[in-house]
Amino acid sequence: MVKPPVEPFMIRSVAPIKLLPREERLRRLEEAWWNVFRLRSEDVFIDLLTDSGTGAMSVYQWAALMVGDEAYAGSRSWYRFEETVREVLGVDYVLPVHQGRAAERILYTTLMERRGAKVVPANTHFDTGRAVILNAGGEPIDLPTPEARDPHLRHPFKGNMDLDALESLIKERGPENIAFILFVVTNNTAGGQPVSIDNIKAAREIADKYGIPLVMDICRFAENAYLIKERDPRYASKSIPEIVKEMLKYGDHFIMSAKKDGLANIGGFIATRDQDLYEELAARVVLEEGFITYGGLAGRDLEAIAQGLREVIDEDYLKHRVEQVRYLGELLLERGVPVVEPIGGHAVYVDAAEALPHIPRDKFPADALAAHLYLESGVRAVGLGALAFAREREDGAIEYPPFEYLRLAIPRRTYTNTQLEYVAESLARLLEDPKKVKGLKIVWQPRVKGVRHFLAKLAPAD
Ligand code: F0G
Repeated sequence: MVKPPVEPFMIRSVAPIKLLPREERLRRLEEAWWNVFRLRSEDVFIDLLTDSGTGAMSVYQWAALMVGDEAYAGSRSWYRFEETVREVLGVDYVLPVHQGRAAERILYTTLMERRGAKVVPANTHFDTGRAVILNAGGEPIDLPTPEARDPHLRHPFKGNMDLDALESLIKERGPENIAFILFVVTNNTAGGQPVSIDNIKAAREIADKYGIPLVMDICRFAENAYLIKERDPRYASKSIPEIVKEMLKYGDHFIMSAKKDGLANIGGFIATRDQDLYEELAARVVLEEGFITYGGLAGRDLEAIAQGLREVIDEDYLKHRVEQVRYLGELLLERGVPVVEPIGGHAVYVDAAEALPHIPRDKFPADALAAHLYLESGVRAVGLGALAFAREREDGAIEYPPFEYLRLAIPRRTYTNTQLEYVAESLARLLEDPKKVKGLKIVWQPRVKGVRHFLAKLAPAD
């Protein structure tokens, strides 16, 4: 097995972590209602809950914080941020917001209202964007490429959208009822898999044919660009900044969480090529987030993001990043754990349905595996399956999502390979006797649609 490249950074500051004894972990899990979101982080040994806002900043980002300009309007930090976004992404109109879901709420609901349309097809929706659409009375529809449905098929672009299904949907529902077409890059729900430029370009043609806007969720744009370079020979000799621009040139509007490929702990933005829409969005940002030159962020956050956006497109950084994730994936494959292949950009996804055939989907195999992994090893991961994405239809039937995955998300520049080896060994040991993992039931859930996995109180099913 190929080890990831030597880290292109050194560690200058550390945070101690501690493994609690098993009986303590059981107590904490019970106190947390078997939902790993409810655990205290100090009770977690290795935290792979998310790659969002959990990475380590560089010395240049920490230094940038010190020059943050905290003026309410027109701060120097804002201009640096705006210039960086324009330069890195090649998009002119930018609005900062406090994090990705604010960008989703403001952009998605504005487009739905403007077009008086409710249907939103995507390569696959992720949780917060899907929840925004559902709570606005919309209909999020997942159209993953058919290759994505087989976790073991090694296809280079399993993040793609099924474009035949897209065109059939547009014809069936009428183009006027489609609010926008959404690409999530990389595709976080379908295994952190990349989307190809050909797929985005072909969707652009469909969007133009029917007059529908094309939106891109670019939280992990740099990882997607790196995977394109690796997997599509036509881009092998292109630079990451060139691939990023080529990838984004087909989109009309963009949302970003700077907590991912912004390499920051907080922040996000909306970007658009449409001046008229920008004016409308700007007014909503003032109302809901803050003035348009800070959008709910401190000036120092804008500085950290601007610096992060420059660091994230560095090829040495990306090579280490993607290959470290792959290393964990291959350790698991070697130990017979059913992992989504090929390994994606920011996380390793375990097919919980395959690993735990004795747990039916209404007993939440992915979330049960997350709870038991914590119990067995102090490692925290997250379930992305029925608890997060199942939906009750109007006729009362439950519509299950296409995937039932446990996601091990790797924070950027944070954990060592030895720590990942511990994760692989712990999960493989747990799955040597899968029957140890018991299904879960819901004791309580919130009324707001699409967010129950964050807050649900759970208990062992029997
Ligand atoms: N879009 C995608 C694809 C995401 O992965 C996330 C967040 C968001 C939008 C929302 O951004 O958290 O800044 O409000 N995903 C995190 C995760 C939380 O764990 O994957 P946010």
